[in-house]
Amino acid sequence: MCGIVGGVAERNIVPILLEGLKRLEYRGYDSSGMAVLDGQQQIRRVRALGKIKNLSQKIQESTEEFAGNLGIAHTRWATHGIPAENNAHPHICNNRVAVVHNGIIENYQELKAQQLDKGYRFTSQTDTEVVAHQIHYELTLLGESEDALLKAVQNALRHFKGAYALGVVAVNDPHTLIAARKGSPLVIGIGIGEHFIASDVSALLPVTQNFIFMEEGDVAHITRETVRIFDATGQIVERAVKQSTLTAHAVELGDHRHYMHKEIFEQPQAVIDTLEGRITQEHVLVSAFGHQAEALFATIERVQIIACGTSYHSGLVAKYWFEDIIGLPCQVEVASEYRYRNPAVLDNTLFVTISQSGETADTLAALQQVKNSKKAKNIPTLTICNVPESSLTRESDLTFLTHAGPEIGVASTKAFTTQLVALALLLTAIGKTQKHLSSKRETIIVRGLQKLPGLLRNALQHEDKIIELAQLFADKNSALFLGRGTMYPIAMEGALKLKEISYIHAEAYPAGELKHGPLALIDDQIPVVMIAPNDDLLEKLKSNLQEVKARGGQMIVFEDELSNIESEGSMQVVKATTNVGRITAPITFNIPLQLLSYHVALIKGTDVDQPRNLAKSVTVE
Ligand code: G6P
Repeated sequence: MCGIVGGVAERNIVPILLEGLKRLEYRGYDSSGMAVLDGQQQIRRVRALGKIKNLSQKIQESTEEFAGNLGIAHTRWATHGIPAENNAHPHICNNRVAVVHNGIIENYQELKAQQLDKGYRFTSQTDTEVVAHQIHYELTLLGESEDALLKAVQNALRHFKGAYALGVVAVNDPHTLIAARKGSPLVIGIGIGEHFIASDVSALLPVTQNFIFMEEGDVAHITRETVRIFDATGQIVERAVKQSTLTAHAVELGDHRHYMHKEIFEQPQAVIDTLEGRITQEHVLVSAFGHQAEALFATIERVQIIACGTSYHSGLVAKYWFEDIIGLPCQVEVASEYRYRNPAVLDNTLFVTISQSGETADTLAALQQVKNSKKAKNIPTLTICNVPESSLTRESDLTFLTHAGPEIGVASTKAFTTQLVALALLLTAIGKTQKHLSSKRETIIVRGLQKLPGLLRNALQHEDKIIELAQLFADKNSALFLGRGTMYPIAMEGALKLKEISYIHAEAYPAGELKHGPLALIDDQIPVVMIAPNDDLLEKLKSNLQEVKARGGQMIVFEDELSNIESEGSMQVVKATTNVGRITAPITFNIPLQLLSYHVALIKGTDVDQPRNLAKSVTVE
């Protein structure tokens, strides 16, 4: 997965493309590059290893001015070929065609063999280079005909298997940018006398608020004055221009040192925004899930949740809620397993995908597989997603948008919290539609959710204490996170956060499993983090805590005001919150774990917002 940006304008496009790349850096940051058509209508390219700032510096330092009115740029997360300058995009064929690509061309080896036979030379190990060569080859067949570049791209696309978002420029058509989308996201930004393309809206917010969301199979012919879009069958089509409600400011860092920190502190507001218009004083509005929701919810007998990473953890929390609170069977699975294991799909299952980006390739493929399967009847699909107009929202029968706002830090924080809010609303909506939830219970849940922003604000106030505790991890290589019930998936999320951003190995266990293996690990070199709310399982958790203590383990315990565990010896206890309910507890206890990972990462000096080897939106397998 990678980020692409491009544009055609009267002004110099280079600063716009650089700013766009910076805003897309979360999608990949192994290397980056840019190609423009200069005053002599020649393609000029700059590429650099590492972050966008390296590219920016190289452009500034270039001896000849690097400028142009038409250009494409790319930030890369390596799939085929190591991170290296020669593998960075744009890829150029014979100085005539330049291409940026997000996705994977699965049959590139076969195409490469054919192109080698035709005399094309390869300078990279990427799958993308075949795209540049194929377009060049199609152009030579078409000669000087009208719309040659458009037709060459359309013809080339017929040869590609896999996924792509593409930006293409060529010297024979120096005022045209061609864009194509299949399986990877791409938007067209509409300016005044200028047009742009990008992998997402945020990249273009400094230059426009108006966007066309390209659909599967679309190819766009873009000049300064016009945008013509052709669908997968080659027919010219009209696509609506939509206005983004996001402001350029929404993705700026403000006073925070990192996006992750900013996003952790935005959580109370993100919850308020996600609840707005979805609840009344006492009730959840079922129609918040779409006008067909009530009819669909009435027919379902079970829920299947599919997601990846942090989003998967929110699904795991919801499983406890669904089965415990409304007695509805709920299965949760990571998308990359589900899509390849020929699962038994039962009739009347609500198929729920959860995703911050709405573009995660495995989650999307699992959804498509279920939609195409004829194995079962009545499988309505719902996505809980943070990005409007994303692939998952288009492919699902029902959409619930979390209103977390743009999440830039690679480690997900506020998206997770709002996913949990969405799932709490979902369980209430289904429960009341199926009459498995009394009106009184519904009101208790709604009141709890209304209190949540305040609970999160209180939990955030423990940051100073957590900064102190983070020191315990400074010289450690491993950590263990323990919880029971819904705190088990929260422990998993805590361990994932620590791994992702501090590179400390961390594992989560249901505390009751300690005696079946992990107890053997305990010594003073492995800090143990326990989550101990005052719930039905507290007494059992206290026994687990003794088991660790007896073996000399160093412990951090997060409790609520009624848990009554006291700090002593190597055990440090933080009263992270007041008394919390069954739904608000996991959401609230996640906050200190986010802060802990963040501050450990600061001590370790890692790249918090863009940890090594990871990317925010995984649009490839
Ligand atoms: C990547 C990100 C995670 C995210 C996961 C799923 O691994 O680094 O933060 O949880 O993808 O992404 P999604 O957009 O589907 O929630």
